[in-house]
Amino acid sequence: MEYRKLGESGLKISELSFGSWVTFVNQLNEKDAMSCMAYAYDKGVNFFDNAEAYAHGESEILMGDILKKLKWDRDTYIVSSKVFWGGDLPTQKGLSKKHIHDACNAALMRLKVDYLDLFFCHRPDPETPILESVYAMNDLLQQGKIMYWGTSEWSAQEINEAFLCAKKFNLRGPTMEQPQYNILCRERFENEYREIFKKYRIGSTIWSPLASGLLTGKYCNGVPKNSRFKVKGYEWLAQSMDSVDFNKINRINDLSKKINIKPSQLAILWCLKNKNVSSVILGASKLSQLKENLDSLNYLNLITDDIIEEINGY
Ligand SMILES: NC(=O)c1ccc[n+]([C@@H]2O[C@H](COP(=O)([O-])OP(=O)(O)OC[C@H]3O[C@@H](n4cnc5c(N)ncnc54)[C@H](OP(=O)(O)O)[C@@H]3O)[C@@H](O)[C@H]2O)c1
Repeated sequence: MEYRKLGESGLKISELSFGSWVTFVNQLNEKDAMSCMAYAYDKGVNFFDNAEAYAHGESEILMGDILKKLKWDRDTYIVSSKVFWGGDLPTQKGLSKKHIHDACNAALMRLKVDYLDLFFCHRPDPETPILESVYAMNDLLQQGKIMYWGTSEWSAQEINEAFLCAKKFNLRGPTMEQPQYNILCRERFENEYREIFKKYRIGSTIWSPLASGLLTGKYCNGVPKNSRFKVKGYEWLAQSMDSVDFNKINRINDLSKKINIKPSQLAILWCLKNKNVSSVILGASKLSQLKENLDSLNYLNLITDDIIEEINGY
């Protein structure tokens, strides 16, 4: 495992990390989630991603229970939460100063830690002035409740505004962004953020490297049983299949066969080849998937510039 600097910060984050969206609680019980976290940690993963919204807070409770049981030293791992979707009431969502403070305190309780390493604004909130959110994050930094704050799926313009507010009032701007990035979803990361990466050197912890499993190739003949698109409450994901370029996925499958690795491994390594990526967050509903995905690091040398060029041409 290699460790990359998280943007301009001094924090070294593992290039592959592990997240809990959909899987924790819905697909992984405590025993299986613990096996995955322990395996990942043994392989050098140091970042575990979570959010107040995941399984309505239950995912953080589960991860917190596991962290307690595994008894890792607190200075050996990075754990995150995200604020935005905390509940149905007007005060329980968005990026107001109040909800940012409440969400942080609640995440600390659920994860059973004294501080969060990374705290993300899970989406932009058009109803709250960006300056208010930047101030709230700065407060939490000063209180030692979070180490770094970041954005998730903010536009380049919104990120730019956060930096301008921070500069004007001598506050800390975002250290990282958490966008979707994979072979099927490239526009924002590669084009819209181009100037942001150059100007502010922010880090990135990218999500859905396998496009929720599409890039494993297993959806090419329809939705398989026991897959994410069949998980109760996540059926909406299947709607995206109408616009998926399965031709591209088939070509990825063929290319991966040619170089003798799994399509999932090729898709993960393609993400890692982009130096603006600080960490690729893996998701897995089974330990066997996590093993296969972490194993991709053994094949990094197979991913030549020609291979990347070929994929980018599909
Ligand atoms: N900030 C945000 O807005 C945001 C949004 C989404 C995710 N995230 C973060 O990013 C993390 C990763 O995203 P993701 O879970 O969508 O990642 P992903 O890698 O695109 O999808 C993971 C899912 O694909 C399937 N899969 C993975 N490896 C496989 C393999 N080797 N063979 C067959 N199937 C495989 C599994 O689902 P099944 O077995 O159920 O099919 C697994 O749960 C999340 O856990 C979360 O922490 C953040």
